[in-house]
Amino acid sequence: MNIAVFASGGGSNFQALADACQDGRIRGRIALCVASRETAGVIQRAERLGIPVHVLRGSTEEWTASALEVLRTQQVEFIALAGFMRMVPADLIRAYPDRIVNIHPALLPDFGGHGMFGMNVHRAVIASGAARSGATVHLVDEDYDTGPIVAQEAIDVRPSDSAEDLATRVLEVEHRLYPAVVAAFAEGRVHRDGASITIQPSSSSPVS
Ligand code: GRF
Repeated sequence: MNIAVFASGGGSNFQALADACQDGRIRGRIALCVASRETAGVIQRAERLGIPVHVLRGSTEEWTASALEVLRTQQVEFIALAGFMRMVPADLIRAYPDRIVNIHPALLPDFGGHGMFGMNVHRAVIASGAARSGATVHLVDEDYDTGPIVAQEAIDVRPSDSAEDLATRVLEVEHRLYPAVVAAFAEGRVHRDGASITIQPSSSSPVS
């Protein structure tokens, strides 16, 4: 499976996905890295791995058209958003029906939506007094963080946790969960029935 990773930041999730492709946990390859800005740290990671990079420029219409073109050229079959700070335009979603996923650093549907990104999420979790947080992988639709949930993994929030502590532990979960979910897509083990998604277990990489 040819995968594109869309990112805006440092790209630790990009790295986790690339590592999993390299060591065979994901039956696929990262064919393209799409960065929403030239300064995104993910670009260096991709270049180090010899993965082609496409930087988005111009209006939404312009960057959508150029992204669709390069996705076609690189024969991309699946898109993983990893810290991508833009709304995905409808044309892109239509071109990849049920083939675009995102990872969110909380247990959706809680702590999602507009403005809920990066440390804002972890600060909100701590402020709410929630006992649990975690990571969610979901299909991408035309709104923020509202698509059907594919997989979640929860961790306890400790009374002593700062937002930074929580972010660190949630990121560890992300780096395990995201490759496992993308592996399931690559093996055709993800099935959708309306808003409900099931993942068939695999003996080598179970995902619940
Ligand atoms: C992750 O916490 C992800 O859940 C969120 O943005 C962060 C990206 O981190 N959507 P990185 O760039 O993959 O290190």
